Amino acid sequence: MQLAGKRALITGAARGIGLAFAERYVREGAQVAIADINLAAAEKAAAELGDPACAIHMDVGDQHSIESAVNNTIDTLGGIDILINNAAVFTADPIVAVTRKDFTRTFEINVAGSFFTMQAVAQHMVERGEGGKIINMASQAGRRGEALVSVYCATKAAIISLTQSAGLNLIEHGINVNAIAPGVVDGEHWVGVDAQFARLEGKEPGQKKREVSASVPAGRMGTADDLTGMAVFLASKEADYIVAQCYNVDGGQWMS
Ligand SMILES: NC(=O)c1ccc[n+]([C@@H]2O[C@H](COP(=O)([O-])OP(=O)(O)OC[C@H]3O[C@@H](n4cnc5c(N)ncnc54)[C@H](O)[C@@H]3O)[C@@H](O)[C@H]2O)c1
Repeated sequence: MQLAGKRALITGAARGIGLAFAERYVREGAQVAIADINLAAAEKAAAELGDPACAIHMDVGDQHSIESAVNNTIDTLGGIDILINNAAVFTADPIVAVTRKDFTRTFEINVAGSFFTMQAVAQHMVERGEGGKIINMASQAGRRGEALVSVYCATKAAIISLTQSAGLNLIEHGINVNAIAPGVVDGEHWVGVDAQFARLEGKEPGQKKREVSASVPAGRMGTADDLTGMAVFLASKEADYIVAQCYNVDGGQWMS
């Protein structure tokens, strides 16, 4: 067990990739706070994981909610050794149709949410003086633009940049900040993505998903479980000398 005795806060962990991280972390001996805007789903997930897991209500788009969720996690678990900034929303539209409201909401959740959660957890880690690990969820979407996905791509590029700056700033406190850039990962998230492309590109339901699957060099979409090994590694002692990096876990879609 690589994370025995560690305490992790995982945002957006009620389903999808975040839930897979929580399940794997528990198997690796960690206690996890499943923090999500959907408290009922977080509670269900925590109940299934048993004693090592707890559910925390958190809206990363709201500063007060970030602070209370971080404090609740510290009170419940006794501290935070690992943060995974995973919560995010996806949006797609041509440039001429993007609304200011959608732009602002997406940046509030994906960028400000990750940044200020990282800040609140880093303040705790610095004060405690025992270091820690912070993992931010980027995306291949942050490596380059996409015609219909300008805002989401920009938020993920911002995550890569913030990971670099925070990684350089916080390593003096023994806090390793790194990121994971998945490619296309099957799950409920993709039901929504597929529906948005069906609307925008006039595709049949499921067609976009089939097209992206076929374009992955590994020959298939990723699964949430494909990402958990990297999330364990970056949270483990093995990653003590890894600082401010973003790792592609994408079946060969992007090389950097
Ligand atoms: N699925 C993919 O293909 C893919 C690819 C690259 C990167 N990613 C990234 O991986 C991460 C997880 O993706 P996923 O596919 O599991 O997404 P998902 O949509 O399945 O899950 C997101 C979770 O975040 C929660 N959430 C949404 N808004 C929130 C808020 N304001 N505060 C707290 N929680 C909130 C949702 O309730 C949900 O449980 C995201 O950062 C996403 O951008 C996903």
